[in-house]
Amino acid sequence: HGYPPFEGTASFRKAITNWYFRRYNVKLDPDGEALPLLGSKEGLTHLALAYVNPGDLVLAPNPAYPAHFRGPLIAGGKIHSILLKPENDWIIDLGDIPDSVAEQAKILYFNYPSNPTGATAPREFFQDIVAFAKKYEIMLVHDLCYAELAFDGYQPTSLLEIPGGKDIGVEFHTMSKTYNMAGWRIGFVVGNSRIIQGLRTLKTNLDYGVFAALQSAAQTALQLPDEFLHQVQERYRQRRDFLIQGLGQLGWDVRKTLATMYLWVPCPLGVGSTDFALSVLQKTGVVVTPGNAFGSGGEGYVRVSLIAECERLGEALSRFQQAGISYHFLSLK
Ligand SMILES: Cc1ncc(COP(=O)(O)O)c(C=O)c1O
Repeated sequence: HGYPPFEGTASFRKAITNWYFRRYNVKLDPDGEALPLLGSKEGLTHLALAYVNPGDLVLAPNPAYPAHFRGPLIAGGKIHSILLKPENDWIIDLGDIPDSVAEQAKILYFNYPSNPTGATAPREFFQDIVAFAKKYEIMLVHDLCYAELAFDGYQPTSLLEIPGGKDIGVEFHTMSKTYNMAGWRIGFVVGNSRIIQGLRTLKTNLDYGVFAALQSAAQTALQLPDEFLHQVQERYRQRRDFLIQGLGQLGWDVRKTLATMYLWVPCPLGVGSTDFALSVLQKTGVVVTPGNAFGSGGEGYVRVSLIAECERLGEALSRFQQAGISYHFLSLK
């Protein structure tokens, strides 16, 4: 019950780097290139506090997981939003970032597979973003929260697999999603040792790290056979297919996501995200997250989670039907 080591237990750090090698064939040094966190959200935000000075410019996609822009804002930074577009499959278009902005930017946060859009980015995108970051000397912060919640044979890409990725970036991982340990508060960051050192130094002034018993449990989780992962992936895949089909019967053409636990669903024509989410809640008691909660770029969409069993998702769909909610029609009355 004593304080755990600031830098995490040696055995958990070793389990992290072993897991990384097994998954991505990338060798990392457990002493400098891996750091346990009190959940990845904590690390994503504290990284900004460690590196962003008031007035510094940070690039973040819009829509994005809020910690990617709120962390830098809390640190006093300025955000340049990179608007994501459906016509680009919600993938960052690096050509949209003006030279003058890129030259000033200190950090770029990004996240594929993505929360909230469910988008995945091809390996070439990762190569391009590494080249971009090197050219403009920008720190890359990749959030690979959904590293293993992938379907149909898709394997998400790690920034550190890309040659040069580790020179300029770090990647955040969590035990919350694949391993269902969200309430336990444990995740980790891997990558460039100098960048990690800055975060570690800040954290030694803020916390004592993760309770050692949880690090031990997380180590066990990372060592589980792949069969466990396949079961989790299969469960989410079934829910994805079930919900896409059910929404299809209500007029929605929702694209199959290759990863994450979300569907990114367009609002009925002419209805805004907040109005739609509120109307759904009032008429059916079902909660969907308005897309604009992730930034203005999420307007016109809602995020639907696949965290309930198919039976419960079916209940939500039948309430939609009873309430007369479809893609083509929604009375806001
Ligand atoms: C993209 C993304 N990053 C980070 C987190 C936070 O995860 P953790 O529980 O590790 O703090 C989430 C949780 O929803 C997420 O979707």
